[in-house]
Amino acid sequence: MGVVLCLGGQWGDEGKGKIVDLLAESAQMVIRSQGGNNAGHTVVVGDHTFKFNLIPAGILHPSTVCVIGNGVVLDPRVLLSELEALEEQGANLDNLVISERAHMIMPYHPVLDRLEEGARGDDRLGTTFRGVGPAYSDKVRRIGFRVGDLQKPAFLEKKLRFVLPLKNQALVRLYDAQPFTVEAILEEYTDYARRLDRFIRDPYPLIQGALAEERRVVLEGAQGTMLDLDLGTYPYVTSSYPSAGGVLAGAGIGPRHVTRTIGVFKAYTTRVGYGPFPTELEGELGEYLRERGGEYGTTTGRARRVGWFDACVARYAVAVNGIDSLALTKLDVLDELETVRICTGYRSKGQPQDHPMANISHLKHLEPEFEELPGWRRSTRGARRREELPSEARAYLDRLSELLGAGVDWVSVGAGRDQTIEPAAW
Ligand code: GDP
Ligand code: IMO
Ligand code: MG
Repeated sequence: MGVVLCLGGQWGDEGKGKIVDLLAESAQMVIRSQGGNNAGHTVVVGDHTFKFNLIPAGILHPSTVCVIGNGVVLDPRVLLSELEALEEQGANLDNLVISERAHMIMPYHPVLDRLEEGARGDDRLGTTFRGVGPAYSDKVRRIGFRVGDLQKPAFLEKKLRFVLPLKNQALVRLYDAQPFTVEAILEEYTDYARRLDRFIRDPYPLIQGALAEERRVVLEGAQGTMLDLDLGTYPYVTSSYPSAGGVLAGAGIGPRHVTRTIGVFKAYTTRVGYGPFPTELEGELGEYLRERGGEYGTTTGRARRVGWFDACVARYAVAVNGIDSLALTKLDVLDELETVRICTGYRSKGQPQDHPMANISHLKHLEPEFEELPGWRRSTRGARRREELPSEARAYLDRLSELLGAGVDWVSVGAGRDQTIEPAAW
């Protein structure tokens, strides 16, 4: 059993929510351990579509304990509306635990996020405006507010009286924006404290207990490796660590417990926001894949940029995360194409290059080299076993597996829970 890491291997939105929901069925615990409500994870069960921003996708399994871990930045307002929606849909919330160590997004964080983006002008990053970057900055500056502070009103107020002037100074002096008042924030957060109290706990004994009993614990990644603050396409990244190390740190789990690291990849590539994207497709084909794949952001509704599968990016993700198992999603989106392409290498100023480099201006000007494979031009949406896939689709999976050095164990051929080819045992 042990800990299963389920991580995004590209620029996010790989279909992690769907895969985590499947893994959660046999798990005692699912932990979301980093990022905030910049994430949007979709799970489709029959006619119902569930969208999660903060709550682990495991919540749909009534006996699975769901933890929001210490590495998350949590906007209480967003969490409460997510809880309300789930309650209306009949989900069982009794098993939700929020770490008292998780940091909170404060009302000034989304405002600063938007203002900072505006000030960057042409160099803007395309953030989700959810305040995630400013909240993590404050965490690192040690002026952040933690969920546990909600249970200590006097401490919360004292800290707010120190921190808020710093924030107001930036708002007023740098951006000519409206300041916040201590009183208004206290009133708002006192209400959140009351409504969230029953979920706030130290999950340490629960998590360590599950590990000691060798129960299955699934770590639900958010964002993707190429959005990692250190390993991604900096500065066009998020402000947390979506890669394996960050996901473990954000849950308080050591690497020795990990029994499998699943990399979730789309059968092509997408990216929301700005920054380098070597295999990006513009024009008709890009438009076609965007429409067929429904590539519009779960959180912001923004159109996602689309491109061919980039095996250089994916191989890098496999390497830096220690991925030993692949989940390939949205294979069905490629069903009608005459040929499919895989980027197998780059050229940078004429020189061969096999992985995404740190230098952003070099990365922006890479020339991708493609391998072309025949398409299958048949629907894969009804396939439930690998043998039911057209031979050309199987050849595509085999080639990806060969290029990435890991087996494709899960294949997703539609958004529905059942539209999956799962491994016989794992
Ligand atoms: P996440 O952030 O990694 O959880 O991914 P998102 O939920 O943001 O985006 C994935 C989108 O693709 C969602 O709308 C899913 O319902 C959908 N999806 C997942 N797997 C498949 C698949 O195999 N085929 C199709 N057509 N859609 C899928
Ligand atoms: P899931 O978990 C896709 C992107 C934003 C932007 C950059 C920085 O659904 O895969 P931020 O608001 O984090 O400061 O924005 O990161 N981004 C995501 N893109 N999926 C996500 O999450 C993302 N979370 C952040 O679009 O380019
Ligand atoms: Mg998403």
